[in-house]
Amino acid sequence: MNSITWDTLDWTVLDRLREIFLAGQQAPATYWTSLEDLANYNFTYAQRIGWKWDAVIDELKRRSWTPPGGTLLDWGCGSGIASRRVIASYGTEHFASVGVSDHSGHAVQFAAATAREFFPGLKVTTGTGEGRIGTLVISHVLNELNEVGGRALREVIDRSDAVIWVEPGTFADSRALIQMRESLRTQFHVIAPCTHQATCGLLAPANERHWCHHFASPPPGIMADSDWVKFANRAGIDLRSLPYSFVVLERRGVREAVPSLAAEGCSRILGEPRIYKGYAKVLACASEGVREMELQKREAPEVYKAFKGGESSPLWRWEVEGVRIRNPKPAHPES
Ligand SMILES: C[S@@+](CC[C@H](N)C(=O)[O-])C[C@H]1O[C@@H](n2cnc3c(N)ncnc32)[C@H](O)[C@@H]1O
Repeated sequence: MNSITWDTLDWTVLDRLREIFLAGQQAPATYWTSLEDLANYNFTYAQRIGWKWDAVIDELKRRSWTPPGGTLLDWGCGSGIASRRVIASYGTEHFASVGVSDHSGHAVQFAAATAREFFPGLKVTTGTGEGRIGTLVISHVLNELNEVGGRALREVIDRSDAVIWVEPGTFADSRALIQMRESLRTQFHVIAPCTHQATCGLLAPANERHWCHHFASPPPGIMADSDWVKFANRAGIDLRSLPYSFVVLERRGVREAVPSLAAEGCSRILGEPRIYKGYAKVLACASEGVREMELQKREAPEVYKAFKGGESSPLWRWEVEGVRIRNPKPAHPES
């Protein structure tokens, strides 16, 4: 099932899937016509989604947050890349079982078989089950949901202790995730990307053109990998650009101490810093709201350089003077 190689990729399948994904809500209800569709997807597009999951998990680890144990459910699992990334990062021993669920039977079959192959000691179930869910993972599903799908998803969220939800970094997906955050934040702590529990600052009328998105890095050396470069050219994809939006929630009262909330008081840079001669502009989110700020190069040359090189941490502690950033320090220096 996973025996695809760069030489055996089926471009008829990949082209069709890409068109469907770009069309979003018009996608046919179940576009997985065979296990081969999923194998082709898993080898290519799903790997890029995996790199976004790596960025999210890396941030969660830096913020000292671990998903609750118990059942991990991958809803709208496709080939199951999201749950595999989470299990690989936290270890099979962290979870009692993994469930894979999707309205496509092919997807469920592929994801379950692949989970069994990767994690032989872990119990794998199919469907959404009925009991409590420890951690729910949702990946790249939002723009395919109709009303019925939205209700089904809400039903599993209501049974979950934590939710890790990653979507493409588009304006529409980010805005839809913000709506979900707002509707869930009375029952859940907002763990990330936010550094506060207040209303999302992007909902202020002055910020209506902005969206909450971030950029993951592909694995080092990807541009020197001729197979990936050929694939990207053929698929019309920029390998270096991996925009994503995400939200991570933990149900209130599940655990007494929620370490990630220590990020309160930090600022988060949304999107990417914009570099000008001698200064950089950032769209910064903090509990006071979202607004444009400026960092003078002379204030912190090494931070300006990191902004320019696209290597900066997303979370900062700094002082503010008007729109000026003073004394910036990465919130997690090891990042
Ligand atoms: C773009 S794929 C993403 C798959 C996978 N989560 C990933 O990140 O690679 C969207 C998946 O959501 C599933 N899906 C869409 N609407 C659904 C619904 N109402 N109920 C269950 N699954 C759904 C599709 O069958 C598909 O597998």
